[in-house]
Amino acid sequence: MVQICETERLIVRRLSLEDVPVLTEILSDPEVMKHSVRGVCDEAATRKFIEWCLACYELHGVGPWALIDKKAAELIGFCGVGPEMVADVEEINLGYRLARRYWNKGLASESARAVLNYALGKGLFHSVIVIIEPEHVASLKVAEKAGFSSFDVLEFHDRPVRLYRLTSEHWETLHKRCCRTQPCCADV
Ligand SMILES: CC(C)(COP(=O)(O)OP(=O)(O)OC[C@H]1O[C@@H](n2cnc3c(N)ncnc32)[C@H](O)[C@@H]1OP(=O)(O)O)[C@@H](O)C(=O)NCCC(=O)NCCS
Repeated sequence: MVQICETERLIVRRLSLEDVPVLTEILSDPEVMKHSVRGVCDEAATRKFIEWCLACYELHGVGPWALIDKKAAELIGFCGVGPEMVADVEEINLGYRLARRYWNKGLASESARAVLNYALGKGLFHSVIVIIEPEHVASLKVAEKAGFSSFDVLEFHDRPVRLYRLTSEHWETLHKRCCRTQPCCADV
C-alpha cells in the first residue's frame, strides 16, 4: 500500500487493481456518475480507470487516489489530482467521487484540502484546476471550501462548465490563514 497522506477521518493512498470490485460498486451507481464524462462504469471500465490511475502515478507521481474511511477501514471513493487536456493544454485537475452513503459528512471537503496540500503545499505543481458544471451545487461547495474562487466559463465535452484555478501562492496564503485560526486542515 502506498500512502499519500491522511486526515482526521481518511487515509489517502494509491489505488490498486485489488480495488476493482469495491470501486466498481461505487462507480456503477448512476447518481455517483451523474456529472461524469465517463458515465456509469462496469467492472471492465473500472479496471481500465484504475489502470489509467496507475499510469498517472508512474508518469506524473499523482493521480486519483483511494479514500479509506479510517473507522470502517473501507474504500469509500477517490480524490486526487491528475492530468487533463483542456483546450489543448495539459492541466492538473482535481477530481473527487464518493460512495453515496458517505455524502454530506464533509469527507469530500476534507479529502480535497489534503490532496491540495499535497499537490500545491509541497510545490509539486504551480496550479491545480477543477472543472464543475454550474448546477452541481455540492461540488461547487467542495471546491469553494477548499479555496477555489475565480473561474472561467467554457465548453468541456460539449457541456458548459466552470473552470476554477488555484495557484500554489494562493494556497499558501489560505493555508497560513486557516492554520492560525483552527487545527490545520490537512497535516495530521
Ligand atoms: C460532490 C461530492 C463529492 C460531495 O461530497 P460530500 O462529501 O457530500 O461533500 P461535503 O460533505 O464535503 O459537502 C460540501 C458541501 O456541499 C453541500 N452539499 C452536499 N450535497 C449537496 C447537494 N446535493 N445539494 C446542495 N448542497 C450539497 C454540503 O452540505 C456542504 O455544504 P456546507 O459545507 O455548506 O455544509 C459527492 O456528492 C459525490 O461524490 N458526488 C458524485 C461525484 C461527483 O459529482 N463528483 C464531482 C464531479 S465535478
